[in-house]
Amino acid sequence: MILPIIAFGDPVLRKECEDVEEKEANWKTLVENMWETMYNARGVGLAAPQVGKAKRIFLVDSKQIEEDLDGEEGIKQVFINAEIIEETGEEWSYNEGCLSIPHVREDVSRLEKIKIQFYDEAFNFHEREFEGVSARIIQHEYDHIEGVLFTDHLKPLKKRMLKKKLDDISKGKVQTDYVMRFPAAKKKR
Ligand code: NI
Repeated sequence: MILPIIAFGDPVLRKECEDVEEKEANWKTLVENMWETMYNARGVGLAAPQVGKAKRIFLVDSKQIEEDLDGEEGIKQVFINAEIIEETGEEWSYNEGCLSIPHVREDVSRLEKIKIQFYDEAFNFHEREFEGVSARIIQHEYDHIEGVLFTDHLKPLKKRMLKKKLDDISKGKVQTDYVMRFPAAKKKR
């Protein structure tokens, strides 16, 4: 089932998300719905708070953009209860966007390598290292489960320049070809 994507300004995007318990009901359905929602919106990553669930789940599929990755192999992976335990290497800049913040793209600087612990969809534990664009998407999605958005990483001047655009998004004054839910619309119900 395709779920509406939560827009900038909704408090759920600011929550520090909670761990998932293996025996907990419905998390597998949530993961399935998240894949469907992500592909429908042509995203390369999606985190549970973006569909309104404050859970430590996110998806990454960088295989979709493998041909732009300069020889890097893409990944398709669900990350459950992830913890980044190390970030190393040089800072590098990459143009990021977010399905919750449509039509805004900005260069964000992050470290190039990460070491991360997580569970997969069978609840098997992994500790793996990633770099390049896959690491970048993981860092962006990991931020989401910590209540952080990519625009938080921008310099104050850039943030001020974006303020009107972000306000408009939170008010629903934005066009997307996927369904979104806006904080203002939610209040009315
Ligand atoms: Ni995002």
